[in-house]
Amino acid sequence: MTALLQVKDLRTSFFTPEGEVKAVDGVSFCICPGEALAVVGESGCGKSVTSLSIMRLIPHPPGHILGGQILFDGRDLLKLNDREMRRIRGKEIATIFQDPMTSLNPVLTIRRQITESLELHLGMNAQQARQRSVELLKMVGIPCPEQRIDDYPHQFSGGMRQRVMIAIALACSPRSIIADEPTTALDVTIQAQIVNLLEDLQDSFHLTYLFIAHDLSVVCHISDRVAVMYLGKIVELADRDSLYKQPLHPYTRALLSAIPIPDPVAEEKRERIILTGDVPSPVNPPPGCRFRQRCPLAFGHCQDEEPEFRNLGDEHWVACYRAA
Ligand SMILES: Nc1ncnc2c1ncn2[C@@H]1O[C@H](COP(=O)(O)OP(=O)(O)O)[C@@H](O)[C@H]1O
Ligand code: SF4
Ligand SMILES: [Mg+2]
Repeated sequence: MTALLQVKDLRTSFFTPEGEVKAVDGVSFCICPGEALAVVGESGCGKSVTSLSIMRLIPHPPGHILGGQILFDGRDLLKLNDREMRRIRGKEIATIFQDPMTSLNPVLTIRRQITESLELHLGMNAQQARQRSVELLKMVGIPCPEQRIDDYPHQFSGGMRQRVMIAIALACSPRSIIADEPTTALDVTIQAQIVNLLEDLQDSFHLTYLFIAHDLSVVCHISDRVAVMYLGKIVELADRDSLYKQPLHPYTRALLSAIPIPDPVAEEKRERIILTGDVPSPVNPPPGCRFRQRCPLAFGHCQDEEPEFRNLGDEHWVACYRAA
């Protein structure tokens, strides 16, 4: 199947007081229509910069895109002008961010915030936009949407605010959604409800997802494939079952070992791989494998050269000399 979104060798740079950071350093992946790709990795590894690059929302300065291609339905988003890019945002690719409180405008009612893009992108009049907004709020599980539509963000709970954000994202029927840690700010039970809602919406509307998370437990059900990022690079990329059952990169194994198991007997036996050391500074990443200072399997050659990202069969890709 032809990919709907294809990121090829994306490279970005940020100028910080400590020096230049290659926040994303040669990232490539593709997502087919109707597929969900999860991108997982510790805080600071470059997940948000990847998603912001796709939307062309990197704050410039201090950041900029150094190179690569971002093909959406065959068009390179990096070559579009601002007007063309505004049409892509919301109408073709919509985003849901981690903290709905900072994404929603606290002084505007929910109605104002949903109807805005319906009027702007779809040319609806006020009455049509209101009616469609009520439908959208109903679709994402907001009770009594006819009454709640005139409330302000602070009158909703965290989970309900995230549902409102999802309604806003769906407003113009985008083909693709980038969800950047959409459940991180929420309680565990609410997290599951939001992931279930996103899964249901994907089935109903054949949505294509780029789902970003900082741990592998959140994306277990929703992802078809998973990419694991470390310090600006993807270190493993595979089909979901293959990655969870047969992780090949030591970093992926460590992330998986951190997931609690609901069965108390199995949980008792769970072996945790505790990584020592801190993530190295992105200003001056170490030569060779970037993970080597924390890797329990590191050996001499790991410091000489960066391991190649190899396909070890069935599209299971990994960057590690030890992986076989
Ligand atoms: N506005 C910014 N100014 C300077 N550096 C930034 C900025 N945003 C991101 N970075 C750099 O990019 C790296 C990756 O950030 P980010 O993509 O936000 O990580 P995460 O994986 O947690 O989403 C950070 O470690 C930081 O060095
Ligand atoms: S290449 Fe070496 S340091 Fe890097 S993950 Fe593999 S074994 Fe560890
Ligand atoms: Mg982030």
